[in-house]
Amino acid sequence: MASAPQTATVSHVYPLGSRLNERGRLEVGGCDTVELAREFGTPAYVYAEDDMRARAREFVEAFSSRTEHFEIVYASKAFPCVAAYRLMAEEGLSCDVASGGELHLALASGFGPERLYMHGNNKSEDELRMAIEAGVAQIVVDSFDEIDRLERLAGHDRQRVMLRITPGIKPTTHSYIQTGQEDSKFGFALSDVHAAVERSRDAGLELRGLHAHIGSQVFELEAYERLGEVLAQLGEWPLVNLGGGLAIAYTRDDAPPSIADYAEALLRRAPEGVTVLCEPGRSLVGNAGVTLYTVGTIKRDVRTYVAVDGGMSDNLRPMLYDARYEAEVADRFGGRTLCTIAGKHCESGDILVRDVHLDDPRPGDVLVVPATGAYGYAMANNYNAIPRPPVIFCKDGDARVVVRRETYEDLTARDG
Ligand code: LLP
Repeated sequence: MASAPQTATVSHVYPLGSRLNERGRLEVGGCDTVELAREFGTPAYVYAEDDMRARAREFVEAFSSRTEHFEIVYASKAFPCVAAYRLMAEEGLSCDVASGGELHLALASGFGPERLYMHGNNKSEDELRMAIEAGVAQIVVDSFDEIDRLERLAGHDRQRVMLRITPGIKPTTHSYIQTGQEDSKFGFALSDVHAAVERSRDAGLELRGLHAHIGSQVFELEAYERLGEVLAQLGEWPLVNLGGGLAIAYTRDDAPPSIADYAEALLRRAPEGVTVLCEPGRSLVGNAGVTLYTVGTIKRDVRTYVAVDGGMSDNLRPMLYDARYEAEVADRFGGRTLCTIAGKHCESGDILVRDVHLDDPRPGDVLVVPATGAYGYAMANNYNAIPRPPVIFCKDGDARVVVRRETYEDLTARDG
């Protein structure tokens, strides 16, 4: 029996302002995605600039309506390109960088160092030196070894630091992206916090506060309330950073908490006067981006395999975390052909989307996978020597390339 046809609508998984135009084609940021595919080629990461700005403003509004003392810190690992750093800086956000490379990108974008937070569980001396020389706002210290390194490197300058702690909270999410549990490579165990505070002071560091990040793609706000309680028991500090992690919708059935409710949960246990920091990555950029592919080969066998011109080189999330996505033919939303979207890599695991209904896909169709704005570009790789896709920002019907497509020459450029 044929299943009921899907209604051809653009769900909340797509960038804000997306719609099907008069020709039935998906528009993102006012740009026709079939035209974008023709102009810029595929695969391509396409972002609605207004979506990212709207989410940044929503975070600021959610906090500013509840407290004067807050800072929204963009976790740039989610989407680390110069244009994204620039956009977040323009929106007044601060920024989390988790490596020398991310610090380099942030500085290249013009991000003020006084708004940068340097993270990492194993920062090298070079990275620490770079952060100190750039004058970052804070270094988020992750271990006793790092305190030793900073003592040597910072000399007589009192480097401002925060201590990352492991609060012993395990939110429900994929185990690879849980970070707050006791058995974690990140941060100081609760039982070591006292010693870490003493040691930081002895090392001449200016300890400004505590940091914790419990995990990513988290739906349970209650975990953040518990985190607030744990941190409150660790004394009074000028700054408390509760990390990132707010979930987004990847499929139309996902109903993540609102940014306002998230802010409410983070602030609930905050003592009077303390500045509360939060570090969203995915929830700022995840739904702003879609990936465009072109359908190549279709195999109708045990199942219908629809192979596209990208795959695990541009989106590792299905393979790493069993992440589920939706997909549509960009100019024929809705449909009732049950398909599996495969990539072009030499692995059977290179499946982007399992069991999705499409409108009878054909070679040459433009296929769109939504909600790829976070940790897609960020984790792109060159498996099978496939050049990485470009990043296109769209706004009011204008499209601009903010990261160009990699070329075959780029692929040989570093080889001796
Ligand atoms: N702060 C810290 C210290 C973090 O480690 C992270 C993410 C964030 C903030 C931002 O978390 P978000 O708001 O984006 O959930 N590659 C994985 C996600 C890894 C997240 C790592 N840390 C994925 O694709 O799901």
